[in-house]
Amino acid sequence: MNNKVMGQMNLPSLGIAVRTLFTGYLLVMAVGFIMSGIQILLTHGMADGKLGVSVDDVVYSYHGNRNSSKLEVKLNGSMKDKASDKDRTTLIKWAREGAPLEHWKKVEPVFSANCVQCHSSIPGLPKFDEYEETAEVAKTDMGASVDSLTRVSHIHLFGIAFIFIFVGLIFSLAVGLNEKLKAFIIAIPFGFLIIDISSWWITSIFPQFAWFVIIGGFGYMMAFVIMWGTSMYQMWILPRNGKDYNINEWNDNR
Ligand code: HEC
Repeated sequence: MNNKVMGQMNLPSLGIAVRTLFTGYLLVMAVGFIMSGIQILLTHGMADGKLGVSVDDVVYSYHGNRNSSKLEVKLNGSMKDKASDKDRTTLIKWAREGAPLEHWKKVEPVFSANCVQCHSSIPGLPKFDEYEETAEVAKTDMGASVDSLTRVSHIHLFGIAFIFIFVGLIFSLAVGLNEKLKAFIIAIPFGFLIIDISSWWITSIFPQFAWFVIIGGFGYMMAFVIMWGTSMYQMWILPRNGKDYNINEWNDNR
């Protein structure tokens, strides 16, 4: 490549085809991040029975609520309106006793009358028409298992690193930024990704670490917004000022 071509290695000078490619990718990733935000609200956000992600939600999701069971938390939360106070008390009492099999005969009709219409037919919900699965939910809540943490961790590490290599690659072509600052912003999501995932594991043992889960997640969202906004602006708005950017942003010796 000659010097003139290399001098166009920057966002405002890119041709329409590659700008379209980068933009398509960035738009799809933005929708993906919005979806993951909604998903977090609906799963972890509801863990304490109230909408919105709080430190308690993170503690319940990863450490569990060790004075209580998932059944009890839900009967005081999002499932509160599904049974009368009397029926709820019967179920909570049974859970607190450790969900004994001897009393299953007594609580089974309460589950059938109030819960089974959903909790036996909707996929993904625990089924309350047989003892084993019901007892699982009624036992003391120990939070995320090593199994599920391992599974979700490796999906996140690979998936999120894969998102940020391309977001970072596009952003690395931005003009007008200090080279060291740019390198720092590119490094942020990888750093926070490690913090986020390790704090899931640490929180499952020490609930005080729940804050780090929130900080980690917030950290790479911020890095994403900065890189996304800068790249979009420099690809579509900046070229309109008619200036010629004759810089190779991938070269250190400028
Ligand atoms: C109208 C349908 C419906 C009825 C009736 C219903 N549930 Fe649910 N239940 C759901 C849905 C949907 C979810 C998932 C969303 C959530 O966690 O709030 C859920 C979640 C739960 C969970 C958490 C499951 C998990 O693994 O996270 C528990 C525990 C639960 N319900 C208990 C009950 C009990 C006990 C009753 C009866 C008193 C009941 N539900 C009645 C629809 C229902």
